[in-house]
Amino acid sequence: MLSENIQNAINRQINAELYSSYLYVAMAMYFESVDMSGAAKWMNAQAQEELVHADKFMNYVNERGGRVILDAIGKPPVEWKSVLDTFEAALDHERKVSSMINDLVTLARKENDHMTDNFLQWYVAEQVEEEASAGEVVRKLKLIGDSGGGRFMIDNELGQRVFNTAAGSGE
Ligand code: FEO
Repeated sequence: MLSENIQNAINRQINAELYSSYLYVAMAMYFESVDMSGAAKWMNAQAQEELVHADKFMNYVNERGGRVILDAIGKPPVEWKSVLDTFEAALDHERKVSSMINDLVTLARKENDHMTDNFLQWYVAEQVEEEASAGEVVRKLKLIGDSGGGRFMIDNELGQRVFNTAAGSGE
């Protein structure tokens, strides 16, 4: 059985994962509006991954005899200044999510809940990937600067990403 504290914290995390998905769909729609359909595809795959993250938490709460309570999902932004600005915002967001996962681990350890601690380790590893993949795109975008040809090439590269249902990872 999950403690009330841990159940509430996981429910907040489920909301954060669903918000992440909503945020990345909003970013994908921004990319569509500036004719970056490859970047939009990348973000849509990322949005699907976030649904997998939320789903894993929901299954875990149910397995432990807890109750998933869904809250309202916040409204994401509509516009960003540029493609680079969008990926920088995505990277910042992932850093916030990593910090939330770290706080969850700290809470599980404080409560001596080894099952939750063990379950959360999947997310700890996943956050390394999440930060690395957004960070890699940020670095490449900084390298190409304002070059139109570079922008075309990176859009093409980002469009190669496919969502991998089994792993919940597009990498
Ligand atoms: Fe679910 Fe991108 O963290």
